Amino acid sequence: MKSLADLLITWHAKSGRHHLPWQQSKDPYSVWVSEIMLQQTQVATVIDYYNRFMKKFPTIKALAHADEEEVMKLWSGLGYYRRARFLHEGAQMIMEEMGGNFPSEFDMMLKIPGIGRSTAGAIAAFSFNQKKAILDGNVKRVLSRYFLIAEWSGLPKTEKKLWDYAESVLPNKNIDTYTQALMDLGATLCNKNPKCTLCPLKKTCLAFQKNKVHLIPAPRPQKKIPTQSTHMVIIKHHDEVLLVKRPQGGIWGGLWSLPQFENTSTTSKAWVKKYFELETNVLEENLKASTTFTHFKLDITYSILEAKSQRSKIPHTWLSLNHIEGAAIPAIIKKILLKI
Ligand code: ADE
Ligand code: SF4
Repeated sequence: MKSLADLLITWHAKSGRHHLPWQQSKDPYSVWVSEIMLQQTQVATVIDYYNRFMKKFPTIKALAHADEEEVMKLWSGLGYYRRARFLHEGAQMIMEEMGGNFPSEFDMMLKIPGIGRSTAGAIAAFSFNQKKAILDGNVKRVLSRYFLIAEWSGLPKTEKKLWDYAESVLPNKNIDTYTQALMDLGATLCNKNPKCTLCPLKKTCLAFQKNKVHLIPAPRPQKKIPTQSTHMVIIKHHDEVLLVKRPQGGIWGGLWSLPQFENTSTTSKAWVKKYFELETNVLEENLKASTTFTHFKLDITYSILEAKSQRSKIPHTWLSLNHIEGAAIPAIIKKILLKI
């Protein structure tokens, strides 16, 4: 059985991306600049920026001596401008503290601003043929699918597991081609719209074999929020419903809504009689609806009652069911009323 690395390297020769400008050199400076640009920006956008940047600042020394203004100008439109300041500061750090040459030692690379474990891994692999792993967004997706890692990759525990897998599959030779192949597979085949039938890994990819590709990567889990319960009543009189104005402040402040009570030891009919002094007939009971706010979920149990008159001393209004749509009523209440 061929290893994941062998499969990727073979695939890359025929189907990988070649001719990208930063692939023309193993010079760590040019790999560094390209990797920083590629951290948050797509290849197609990076190409022109990269070429302009390297023309203006062909060496670490040239970048270190540049005006901050000039560096920022060349970055304009790429976004995440902190990256440009990091490159500039990094070049100065290399000139002043590292003897003017980009360090070949992994732990030294990590001291340079803007270079984390994955970027250092890419530079180490591309420029120095060191057996180091990368783990950017694309690679996380590929490995999560290949090894069927179903938890959200943002959890520290999952991230650790992914790094362990990333390191366990590294080849002993051609680390540069392997690293590029892994990036290219993530960008072109194993992406949001995975093309598994074309993929060189399909025979050993666990997600594909178990038909679970669509479940991975797992989305960020929803925060747990508390649930509150409430009772509401739809009091009808022919084609009109009784609405009350919500107090200012709090949820739905100032909107018209259904009468609401929390006391579960009473029936809707009894509560309406006591509170509104209205006689009613029960049409339906124990209907359910729910809605979610930022900080809690609201479960609504509601009943539909037919009132025998429209007179009550409690402030309220009667609204025709035909006028619900355009009225100042919360969305979930509209939804409930439009169903009856
Ligand atoms: N994304 C990050 N690094 C890359 C590279 N070297 N080539 C293509 N895409 C990348
Ligand atoms: Fe990704 Fe599909 Fe290839 Fe598995 S088979 S690595 S899910 S493209």
